[in-house]
Amino acid sequence: MAKIIENPLNTSVSIGSLTLKNPITVASGTAGYGEELSGFFDISRLGAIFTKGLSIKPRVGNKGNRILETPSGVLNSIGLENVGLEKFLKEKLPFLVKMKATVIPNVAGHSEDENIELCSVLSKTPGISAIELNVSCPNVKEGGMAFGTNLAVFSRLIENTRKVTTCPLIVKLSPNVTSIAEFALQAEKLGADALSAVNTFVGMKINIKTGRPHFINKVAGLSGPAIRPLAIRAVYQIYEKVTIPVIGMGGIANLEDVIEFTMAGAAAVSIGTMNLVDPSIAVKLIDELESYLQKNRIQNLKEIIGTAHTGKGLSQCST
Ligand SMILES: Cc1cc2nc3c(=O)[nH]c(=O)nc-3n(C[C@H](O)[C@H](O)[C@H](O)COP(=O)(O)O)c2cc1C
Repeated sequence: MAKIIENPLNTSVSIGSLTLKNPITVASGTAGYGEELSGFFDISRLGAIFTKGLSIKPRVGNKGNRILETPSGVLNSIGLENVGLEKFLKEKLPFLVKMKATVIPNVAGHSEDENIELCSVLSKTPGISAIELNVSCPNVKEGGMAFGTNLAVFSRLIENTRKVTTCPLIVKLSPNVTSIAEFALQAEKLGADALSAVNTFVGMKINIKTGRPHFINKVAGLSGPAIRPLAIRAVYQIYEKVTIPVIGMGGIANLEDVIEFTMAGAAAVSIGTMNLVDPSIAVKLIDELESYLQKNRIQNLKEIIGTAHTGKGLSQCST
């Protein structure tokens, strides 16, 4: 009698030439350089680790207050503090490679030239799986969000970075624009392999004792569950416009949130602020997602990507 071989569960995600083993990743700036999380779990289990925004020279970050808890989230004004390219390549990357992690550096130069130089060097470096171009940091005066909120500047940067790298290029979008889908479409047209959505929303806190803003930069980036409905809306709108994969993030705190982002159109997701609450959350979600798919007889994750758009829905999935 012929043996029935069940198809194995497929949760892999393709980003250009890269295949992520599963769709659960950790978001830039909330997972350091992997060492910080490796004490909690085996980081090779992650779909990918997006490392802290990188510049050529080390950056000390912003002065004054840097992080503040808000209702269901945090405001941060870190200012892209990072070890710089040389130390990243000499000290941080070898550890990640040794741990067999899928490494995606987040490129965050001050200028277009710096971003081009970073992409060029990183794409020739063994151990780098893809590059995430950060055009959306609200906490720096040069670069950052200035790249991601002006379509002409955004387009030139992507066009020029695309020329210097054959590595999968992921563009991290700013939600602080009128139409995020317009930026997404432009990135796709200029050769981006995937999009990360979203970075933090510009927010503010006033200290009522001093009557002054809490942060020296006045504004800061809001993240965490407080932004989740805004991020879901952004992913939904982007999915309507592009065919490249979207990596969804913004307040993911549990399995329901992962499924919701997937149904809105995310091919993969990133856990950000919630790593600060539970450093093991990402690996727990990998296991929970597998059980969910098995329980609901979904063999391939792709079956649920973007179902919110088709109107077909699923026959009552249970978590
Ligand atoms: C403390 C902190 C630092 C961050 N640093 C970066 C960074 O260096 N580069 C970047 O692209 N995004 C950075 N982000 C944004 C996150 O990667 C993520 O896009 C955002 O926080 C939304 O996801 P979340 O709500 O799950 O945190 C940072 C967020 C936080 C909270």
